[in-house]
Amino acid sequence: VLVKLLVCGGGNGAHVLTGLASSRHNVKVNVLSLFADEAERWRNTLADNHSVVNFREKDGSNKIITSRPNMITNDASKAVPGCNLVIFTVPAFAHEGYFRAIAPYLEPNTVIVGLPSQPGFQFQACDLLGMGGRTSAIVSFESLPWACRIGTFGREVQVLGPKDTLACAIIMRGCKPLFPVLKTIQYVIGKEPKLTMAANYLSINLLADAVVHPPMMYGTWKDWDGKPVAEKPLFYQGLNEFSADLLDKVSTELVQTAKAIHQKYPDMDMKDVIHLFDWYKLNYKESIKDMSSLRMAMKTCTAYDGLVHPMKETPDKKFVPDFTYRYMTEDIPFGMVVFRGISELAGVPTPAMDETIIWGQKILGKEFLVNGKLQGKDMNLTRAPQRFHFNSLFDLVNLR
Ligand code: NAI
Repeated sequence: VLVKLLVCGGGNGAHVLTGLASSRHNVKVNVLSLFADEAERWRNTLADNHSVVNFREKDGSNKIITSRPNMITNDASKAVPGCNLVIFTVPAFAHEGYFRAIAPYLEPNTVIVGLPSQPGFQFQACDLLGMGGRTSAIVSFESLPWACRIGTFGREVQVLGPKDTLACAIIMRGCKPLFPVLKTIQYVIGKEPKLTMAANYLSINLLADAVVHPPMMYGTWKDWDGKPVAEKPLFYQGLNEFSADLLDKVSTELVQTAKAIHQKYPDMDMKDVIHLFDWYKLNYKESIKDMSSLRMAMKTCTAYDGLVHPMKETPDKKFVPDFTYRYMTEDIPFGMVVFRGISELAGVPTPAMDETIIWGQKILGKEFLVNGKLQGKDMNLTRAPQRFHFNSLFDLVNLR
């Protein structure tokens, strides 16, 4: 079968995906970038050349993959028709524009993939894909397969390393694709990471790594006096007692939400959703020096060595926190507010999430949570299920 792939995006991940996919037999790749003049710049920079993916394998060896996509455009009417696989590789705030742009041109039985999906992808997809996407399957990945960055825009991208494994959830919605879904995506990205299936899409949502950033921002900056600081504080290594305690509580609320869903709908297998501390024990056991508590585990995880808070420099070479960074602007509306929405439908109280959101929305100048309900005027900027007409737990578990 010929896979006709549409890549949506134009950043680091989109460069890697485009390069790898275009090098496979029987995969034809169109790229759609809606951001400013990015498509034109990419097309012109590539011109008649081949693009290069410089891929550092697990064993440290380097592989050079050269290829060319079929088309790079900002015009959905040219890029979408005929495509049977669509992969979003772009930050979540840009997803809405892509959903709206592709919906009129989607053919029946298309497979739509979020690589990564980030929380609420499925709700937004169902709402915005409309008639065209009524029989689209929705595949949500928990993260990007690689740590990667563009070397030369449009020409060369580096894969610093693939993940070991990467989980996804698939919602078929009656879709009858021409190819086996997971196997085909694996073929497109190559053999690493090994793609696996999570039990269901709700556990992918409740496990998102967006969970750690807003509570840590809140815990660090809630009492900040507004004065610039001399150094950029360490993000994980500097984790204070308050933030660690809040993270523990938020994580417990997510686990309770998973349990409540399983209790009401026993065939929803939610056992993937585990407490953050258990997650560290499973995923970072080699890198953590002190596993005595969640706080110490996060502070002593060598994978985080030297990572600092997102900061802006002031004219006198001091620093203030950068609240426009994705830890706030993405991880609240496309993270914390989505978790809160799912917990609300599951009937689980979330005082720790609420405290975080109430601080965060003030900093962002937005209103999501008002009088204990997700009813603020800016809910339309979020991906909570309620925004997309999912108003009960029944609605959530019936999305399959
Ligand atoms: P990126 O930072 O390269 O994305 C930038 C792209 O986003 C731009 O090229 C443009 O296509 C789009 N964009 C930027 N501003 C826009 C705007 N105002 N309107 C519309 N589109 C706009 O993203 P990257 O690195 O490809 O990552 C994709 C996702 O994967 C992100 O959610 C990121 O957090 C996640 N991720 C990235 C990793 C990496 O190593 N690059 C590792 C793990 C996750």
